[in-house]
Formats: sequence, structure tokens, C-alpha cells
Amino acid sequence: STIYLKDYRAPDYLVDNTHLHFELKPKATLVKSRLKIRRNPAAGEGLPPLFLDGVDLILLSIAIDGALLSPEHYEKMPQGILVSVDKPEFFLDIQTCINPEDNTTLEGLYLSNGMYCTQCEAEGFRRITFYPDRPDIMSKFTTTIVAPKEYPVLLSNGNEISRGPCEGDHHYVTWEDPFSKPAYLFALVAGNLQYLEDCFITASGRKVKLQLFTEEKNINKGDHALRSLKNAMRWDEAVYGREYDLDIFMIVAVDHFNMGAMENKGLNIFNSACVLASPETATDATFQRIESIVGHEYFHNWSGNRVTCRDWFQLSLKEGFTVFRDAEFSADMNSRAVKRIEDVSLLRTNQFAEDAGPMAHPVRPDSYMEISNFYTLTVYEKGAEVVRMIHTLLGPRGFRKGSDLYFERHDGCAVTCEDFVRAMEDASQIDLVQFRRWYSQAGTPQLTVTDYFDETLGTYVLTVRQSCPPTPGQREKRPFHIPLKLGLLDKNGNELVLDGQGTTQCVLEITEAEQSFEFTELSEKPLPSLLRDFSAPVKIDYPYSIDQLLFLMSNDSDTFNRWDASQRLAFLALSDLQQAYRTGGVLQLQPELIAAYRSVLLNRDLEPALVAELLQLPSEQSIAEASVHIDAEAIVAAREFALQTLAEALFGEFRAQYTALNVRKSFSLSAKDIAERKLKNTCLLYLCATETADALALAQEQFDTANNMTDKAAALSVLINHAGDKQAIAAIEQFYQCWKEDAQVVELWLGQQSRSSRRGNLSAVEKLIQHPAFDLKNPNRVRAVIGGFAKGNFSQFHRSDGSGFEFLADQVITLDKLNPQIAAQQVIPITRWKRYTGDLARKMKIALKKIMDSGDLSGDLYEVVSKSLN
Ligand code: ARG
Ligand code: ZN
Repeated sequence: STIYLKDYRAPDYLVDNTHLHFELKPKATLVKSRLKIRRNPAAGEGLPPLFLDGVDLILLSIAIDGALLSPEHYEKMPQGILVSVDKPEFFLDIQTCINPEDNTTLEGLYLSNGMYCTQCEAEGFRRITFYPDRPDIMSKFTTTIVAPKEYPVLLSNGNEISRGPCEGDHHYVTWEDPFSKPAYLFALVAGNLQYLEDCFITASGRKVKLQLFTEEKNINKGDHALRSLKNAMRWDEAVYGREYDLDIFMIVAVDHFNMGAMENKGLNIFNSACVLASPETATDATFQRIESIVGHEYFHNWSGNRVTCRDWFQLSLKEGFTVFRDAEFSADMNSRAVKRIEDVSLLRTNQFAEDAGPMAHPVRPDSYMEISNFYTLTVYEKGAEVVRMIHTLLGPRGFRKGSDLYFERHDGCAVTCEDFVRAMEDASQIDLVQFRRWYSQAGTPQLTVTDYFDETLGTYVLTVRQSCPPTPGQREKRPFHIPLKLGLLDKNGNELVLDGQGTTQCVLEITEAEQSFEFTELSEKPLPSLLRDFSAPVKIDYPYSIDQLLFLMSNDSDTFNRWDASQRLAFLALSDLQQAYRTGGVLQLQPELIAAYRSVLLNRDLEPALVAELLQLPSEQSIAEASVHIDAEAIVAAREFALQTLAEALFGEFRAQYTALNVRKSFSLSAKDIAERKLKNTCLLYLCATETADALALAQEQFDTANNMTDKAAALSVLINHAGDKQAIAAIEQFYQCWKEDAQVVELWLGQQSRSSRRGNLSAVEKLIQHPAFDLKNPNRVRAVIGGFAKGNFSQFHRSDGSGFEFLADQVITLDKLNPQIAAQQVIPITRWKRYTGDLARKMKIALKKIMDSGDLSGDLYEVVSKSLN
């Protein structure tokens, strides 16, 4: 059944206090709750029955003000109970029994490697006890945990207020959270855990204890997360004026986790893969991901917890804003340009695909069947771009005034995206009426830009047209308010001054379907550098020639647009190659393009980080997303040809650059060293694409001697993809023997094999599924092997016989019985069948039908599959 935003109603009852008492047992945990409930004065007259959500619970007893209710006083419903009420204020006592050990959904309370933990967002709390499980019900929580002493660590939100022994070999700890919060921010952890401890002094001088809990074997992998946490705390004070508000902040690492991490008040719980790292076991990308996720969850303390969401349609209120905050944090800690390039690549490749697919939805959806399906790139990443546009339109000072007002006005409340925009408007006096369409209209807007130069008048006119394709339920779109940042270059590559003040960059505000902008007093026709820094989440079309793109690539002052020019060039070349492949023509790369790559490689003035980015060919997935009709076979052939041709033509240059960078030094995570490793490993990949003995020897040498996982994993990857059987298999085996005890490295190892275009064919992936390291109950392993294949192995997954799709369907059917959220995540690649040409589209659809006909689907999977078959 579908839930609509327009049906939102304030809750009938409020819960002022929530007292929870847990007696932990693997298969029969007893949960006692005492709720202080009162009629919501804002919700009308009378005493309607009280609805409490509850899923997979055994109800033991229910009482009002101490009097047990007999069954005629409440009605059991499929998703909860409806309780008759005869007074406006009362205590409700409920006892339930739950089974954490058999809970494979990883929502509510579950066991992971012998450790109890919870995941309550979005609707997991209802698997713990009967409760009005909605974010606009905010309550003060007190939690007592009773467990055997083999679980020395017992954690919940807030401050510890008492502890002591209990009967038998048990003990208890009681926690009290002084801040009101919705149930989705509740957390509990119990286990035999070690911890690292540190402390942070806030700007106002309060001392906060920081603790990071893991299993003992991982305790050496927590330093980076703690360092990141302190940086994040400092950053939020400096940039947003936000201080931490409890005396203790805890992070826990858990191996079984559906998402990246969770911002539970004072007790963040992380997927192990997003928090644990050491140089020997984690790549640079992992270190950076950890920094950004630790920041993200910490920033939620204000953007999410202190100010939370009224209902789940408002999810982007906290997620879009918090992703924007964590992206800026990462940009400040590392290379700003590289961070932007990475984020935009992700958005263009995956969010644009979402916008163009059957699950397309606005940043604030107006309906859903299962909210878990809406933790999407649209809500998170596009949502962050929407906040970024507000930042661009208001400027940094106006934006800060807006965020101050937002936090002040709504502290302790559950609010809406509208409240956020209004605070920004009120603080800055800038009109965002039309801008609000970014929250309500789905789809990726398309800008088409043309220009005209009048030589006699010296005026240059840019005409911008905007449109947005239809999406499910939204045929017609009204024009968006789009900030278009641009600069103009003269023929020497200098930036033109656009006003009397020496400004060389401006933001055009596009608000109409078609609009023209005039620049005067120019002596020559300039070259526009459009959508600088990707100032809006749109596609933009301007008829650049190859020469103009080459010119922008080497002259634009906007680093992002230099990279973007390189991508446009590559897309043009790849599209020609696809065309040639389809028509049986000769595949050829233009000499200018090869020359451009050569000059990037030889340019000693460019930062290595940027060189590495400029040399990346677009992924097959992003080529697919940019195509109107996806011809998988042609995409694979075109990209492979481009890679081979560049590798052969520039072998000497790649070799020289590799050698220059391949110097032995002690490991550091400085931006410079990270960039140099990335560039070095990019060179290694091109070198090995030639599959010459010389190049493969370099990879082998690096594999054998690397002192860090970035270099080791890069070498392993090229050996898997380009070495002969003997060498590749030896490397795979050796690596596994070395690292089989380390969960994070094993996941990397699984992922590299299933993503390998050479070795990750269907039968290899089927074998990996039989490997002892694979576990269908562990989402990280599923994402590594099944996700690695379906989302990361374009050529093998899209084999023309459709065997990849059928395999995915079978896996998803099995997975759905264990973990519906993960099943619904994994099925995505085949749901976009309509964009594929001919037979592939038909075969994807057959696989989807197979899932549909397989019987009883979870609500999660049903929503995704049924919408994509519509
Ligand atoms: N709020 C978490 C974050 O942004 C994500 C939790 C989502 N959980 C879920 N089951 N959908 O970091
Ligand atoms: Zn978040």
C-alpha cells in the first residue's frame, strides 16, 4: 500500500518519556517499556484509539496505569495494535519478546558476531517494542540493559547513570538521554568489546569523552576514525558554530550492517567497512570514505538529531543538508577539486540514472510504499546539490545566517524541507519561491546553450533553454531556478572581466524556459566556460568543438571544468567509436585526443591529483548513462579500444611517469602522497592494459613489495585483469592466504574478482558465492560479490545471453527471504531495462518477471520490481 505526503496528520498522542528495560537473550530478549503518554493538544477533540506500530513481536502484556488490559481493550493488526483510550494522560506498560539471533533483516535488535546491536532508522524500532514509530514523536529515553557478564560493554544513548550486578552472572547499566528524540535515533549495543578513548574540548570549554568500540582484533584500526571525529567536531564549530552537546560521544563498529553508518544520539553505529582502517589494510579511498562518513554522522547531531524530520518524506531535510556538510568538510580536509570531481561523477553516473529510471522521485518524494527504498542518491546526493545551490544563491554569509536561524528556530523540533528553505529565505531576504520546485519535481533538467557575437556592437549573447523529461507521475515540469556559474575566456586563455569591478566569474540565474543574457564591450567572441564547479545538478549542452574542449582542458581557471572538458572529449570519442563498432567501420582515436592525453601526462605544472583525474576514461556505467539507448556491447568495445590505444600510444610516457613516482618512502596520508599514488596506479593500469611482460613485471613487483594497501590492491587489480592465468591466480591465492582473517580486506578481494571484466565471468562469480568467505547474511559480502558483478562488471553482467540477469534474479529471490532491504538494493541494475537496446531489455524484463512470479515478495522488493514492470 502507498503512503502519501498529502495525507500527513499530526499524531493523536505524544510520548513525553520512554523507559526501556532489556533482558538480553539471543533467541528471547525481554523488552519492557513504560511510556508516559498524553493526548496531543494540537490534534483535535476526543480520545481516539492509540495506534502502536509493531512488527515480528510477541506481545506478553499491556497495561494502562498499572491495570492489565484484557484483549477486548486492544485490537491486533498486521502491523501493530490499536489500544482503546479513556483518559488524556496515562502510563502505558508493555512487555514484548523478540528474537535477535534469527533477525536477518538487520533492522531492530539483532546479533552480529555475538554482539547485540540495533538499527532503527527508518522503521526498525517497531521490531523492538510496540511504539508510535514516527519521527514527529519525540521523547526522553531512559534505557536499562541487563545481560550476562560475558557482555561487559552495555551501551545506549546519552549518559550512563548507574550500573551494578544482577542475579546470576548478570549485570546492568542504565543510560539516560537528556535530549528528546524520535525512536529512530534509539540505539543499544552489548558485547565483549574493546575501546579506544580520546577527548575533545569544545569551543566553550566543555570536555567530551570520545570512545570507539570494536572487537579486540580490530582495535588497531580505530585511530583514523577518532582523528576524523575530532576534525569534524572542530570543523562544525568553525564553519557552522555548532558544538557537541553531551559529555560522551561513542562510535561502534559492526560487521553486519545494511548501510554505511547511523547517527543514533551519542552512540553512532558504523558498518565496520566505514570506520576501521590501517595503512596495511585500507586503501586511500577507504581512509577518505571513513573521514567523510564519520563527519556525516557527527554532523547529524545538529542536522538530524537536534532538528529532525517531521515525516519520512522530509528525509532530505537531514540527509541532503548533511551530505552537503560532509562534502565541504572533506573538501576542506583534502583536495577540494578532487572531492568535487568524485562527487559529480557519482551523481552523473548513478543519480542521473535514477532520475531516468522507473523509481525516479523528487528530492522530497510525495509517495512511497517502503521508505527504505528512498534512501537514494536522489535524496542524499541530489538533495546535497540542492542545498549547495542555496549556498551559491545566498553566498557563504547569507547561507550561514540561514543555517543559524534554522537551528535556532527549530531546535528540538521535527520539521520539514519547507521550514529549512524558509529559514534560508528569512535570513537572507532572497526569494526562493521558484527554487522550491527542486524539492517537488523529479528528473534531471537539460540546459541547451547557444551563443551569438555581434562584432560591430561588441556584444555577446548567451541563450539558455531549459527542459526536463517526464518522470513517473509527472509529465509536465515547470522551469527550475538554476544558478549557472560561468566565465568567459579570450583566445589567449585569459578570463574576461565581466563588470567594472574586475570580476571574471558570474552566476546567471536561469528561471525561464528560455532566457538570453548579454555581455557588452567585448572585442572578440569569447569561449564560455559553463556550469563551473557544477553549480547545478543538470545536463548542459553547448556545441563545443574538439579544439575548444582541448583549449578549456588546458586553460580554464575552473579546475572542475578542465576535468569536465576532458570528459566531454572522451565522451565524443567514445560515441564515435561506438558508432564505428555498430556499423562495422574502422575504430580509430583522433590523434588530437592522444596528443591531449600526452600533454596532460607531461605537464609538470599540473597537480598530480588533477592529472590522475584528467587521465580517467569515463566508466562504462557512465557512458551508458549518457546514452539515449544503451548498447552494452558497443560501449564495452569502444572503451576497451580507447584504453588500449592510449596505453600503446603513450606507453613510454606512462612508463616514465610511473618510474618517477614509484619511489620507496614511508607511508603518509598527505594529500600529495594520496595524489601521487593515484597517478602512479593510473599509469600502472594503462601500462598493464598492453599486457606486455615488461608492464606485468612492474605490477608483480609492486604487488610483492608495496607497504600499503592502496598500492597492493591496485597491483592485484591489474594482475587479475591483465596477467595470464598462472600469474593472476597465484596473486589471488597469495593475497587471500595473507589476509583471510581480515574482514575488510577479504571484502576488497571478493569485490575485485567479481568486478573483473577478464576473470569475473558468471561461472567465476558463482564459484565465489560458494567460497567460505561469502555469506548471504552479510550485506558487505553481498555488495562485494553480487553488487560487484551486477553494478561493477559491466561487460560480464551484460553478456548477450542474459545469464547475468537470471543469476541476479535468483540471488535476489533468495536474499529477499533474509534481508529485504538488501534484496531491493541489489535488484536495481535490471530495473532500468527500458533504456537498453533490443534483446538485453527483453532479457532483463524476463528476469524481473521471474522475481515477480517467485511468490511472496517483501514490501521492499515488491515496490521496486512492480514499479519497474509498469
Ligand atoms: N541515517 C543514516 C545515514 O545517513 C542512514 C540510515 C539508513 N538506514 C536504513 N535502514 N535505510 O547515515
Ligand atoms: Zn545521513
